[in-house]
Amino acid sequence: MVLLISGSTRAGSTNTAALRTVQAVAPSGIEARWYGGLAELPAFVPEAPEPAPPAVLRLREQLSAADAVLFCTPEYAGTLPGSLKNLLDWTVGTGDLYEKPAAWLTVAPPGRGDGAAATLASVLGYVGAEVDEASCARLPLSRTDIGEDGLVVAPAFRADAGEVLRRLVANRRGTAGRPSAGIH
Ligand SMILES: Cc1cc2nc3c(=O)[nH]c(=O)nc-3n(C[C@H](O)[C@H](O)[C@H](O)COP(=O)(O)O)c2cc1C
Repeated sequence: MVLLISGSTRAGSTNTAALRTVQAVAPSGIEARWYGGLAELPAFVPEAPEPAPPAVLRLREQLSAADAVLFCTPEYAGTLPGSLKNLLDWTVGTGDLYEKPAAWLTVAPPGRGDGAAATLASVLGYVGAEVDEASCARLPLSRTDIGEDGLVVAPAFRADAGEVLRRLVANRRGTAGRPSAGIH
């Protein structure tokens, strides 16, 4: 199972649409599960008394069940949205992401969003995730690419989104194919 985590809490989010589309086009045999708890997570408290808050326990359960995690996040003020950084802070010191294969999609146009990606890479390094750079991809999206069902309409995006998921799982299994066009 690949857990999909969007860094946007905005209704109509392009990042959320990208991951919802990944879920919709998941190749057969690959389960992509949506993580929907970002806005419910309380602010991280170091050395918080156990048991952790229910939303944090739910996050831990889903991370623990995941074979890999795929992120897609906007950039806010040159870095990650605070809500996504907060989620990641809850995993510091818990081992939830330790050695967990992880990758991200960037839907910002070239020249935008690189601060968010750089911070994500850095934080995932701190928590010991296994960043799969070959599965990371930039697939630019605009709000007009999203249909009324909240999914991306463009066939090219849908094909690349499925390929990202397939590659992330294949790399984990050590059977990666060759990179395809549009995905670095
Ligand atoms: C508070 C805030 C800060 C932002 N800061 C940046 C930024 O530093 N760099 C950037 O490229 N875009 C920035 N943006 C634009 C968003 O990254 C962009 O609108 C993105 O598409 C939002 O993602 P979403 O559609 O998934 O919500 C900012 C947007 C907001 C709301």
